[in-house]
Amino acid sequence: MTTMAAKGPRRAVAVGIGHYLPERVVPNSEFETMMDTSDEWIRARTGIERRHFAADGETTSQLGIKAAEAALANAGLTADDIDAIVVATSTPDLTFPSVATMIQTGLKMSGGFGFDVQAVCAGFIFALSTANAYIISGQAKRVLVIGAETFSRIMDWDDRTTCVLFGDGAGALILEGQDASGTNADSGILSLDLNSDGQYRDLLFVDGGVSKTQSTGVLKMQGKEVFRHAVEKLAKTAHTALDSVGLHSDDVDWIVPHQANLRIISRTAQKMGVGMDRVIVTVQDHGNTSAASIPLALSVGVSQGKIKKGDVLVAEAIGGGLAWGSAVIRW
Ligand code: UT7
Repeated sequence: MTTMAAKGPRRAVAVGIGHYLPERVVPNSEFETMMDTSDEWIRARTGIERRHFAADGETTSQLGIKAAEAALANAGLTADDIDAIVVATSTPDLTFPSVATMIQTGLKMSGGFGFDVQAVCAGFIFALSTANAYIISGQAKRVLVIGAETFSRIMDWDDRTTCVLFGDGAGALILEGQDASGTNADSGILSLDLNSDGQYRDLLFVDGGVSKTQSTGVLKMQGKEVFRHAVEKLAKTAHTALDSVGLHSDDVDWIVPHQANLRIISRTAQKMGVGMDRVIVTVQDHGNTSAASIPLALSVGVSQGKIKKGDVLVAEAIGGGLAWGSAVIRW
């Protein structure tokens, strides 16, 4: 690991982005043959049209490695240019070791360190915050921040209210410490707002785990209640993060939201006073990929030529915990 003394103001600046989606695409129509649901219901209530599912034996770390390789290629860097890997996931290959160390080996990275953070669908925001702290303190120069998930492994296939919503995938962002002015004109992470409230844990959880059941369990969600919290909390956290650096909705070029439900995405944008023409939407193609959804959306937004250098982005997410937060980034 590179240890650097922090001098003047520094920012964690995005220098590479990439993603990977498993090959198998599952259209809504596939669920019609398995349960009492319809393509029409899923599209109308969620905006989801299809999602990707990992193949048998394909793991979260394998998805993460491919996303990381894409991000390194995009940045023109090699694995040995990276000091740390922070992976946001709730669906690790194994209970331990971390997915991050598996990705480290997969990338043939010879030094540095890696570990996982777990804040479910908000995980990427928490991982960004962790990476940002390492960079601005001078403990790391370049950090690979990855959201990688295989939520298809924790679905209850008898529960039509949840199993049609989620998908698998991974996105990776490389952050690099760069000297900055300390103003909101800087490139990089400008602000973060993190929140959690454990009293809502029964709204969205997995009913198995190492300590309690010694099993993996399946996802349980009170969708309507989570929806209500999402609409209330997401615009608020985004405003808090913007306010803290003297920016306003008008300054936002792109909202890059967690992709759980198109109705949540559009209501949040509406509350923020941002038109849907300034929102990156991938939920139709990916479903809800939990911690992977924001880096996937970032990568798609960049590859489609929407997100450009200098743009102000607001990423926001909420999920199990409840845990929620946002990040303001100048690309
Ligand atoms: O990423 C973490 C954060 N998660 C979220 O943000 C998810 C938040 N919640 C949601 O996105 C929505 O609440 C859902 C998409 C999960 C559900 O949409 P909803 O509009 O809140 O539907 P609902 O739960 O009120 O259900 C309406 C009806 C019910 O039937 P009745 O009781 O009205 O007869 C459900 O049984 O739709 C029925 N239903 C379905 N019908 C066909 C629920 N799931 C399905 C389905 N196919 N897959």
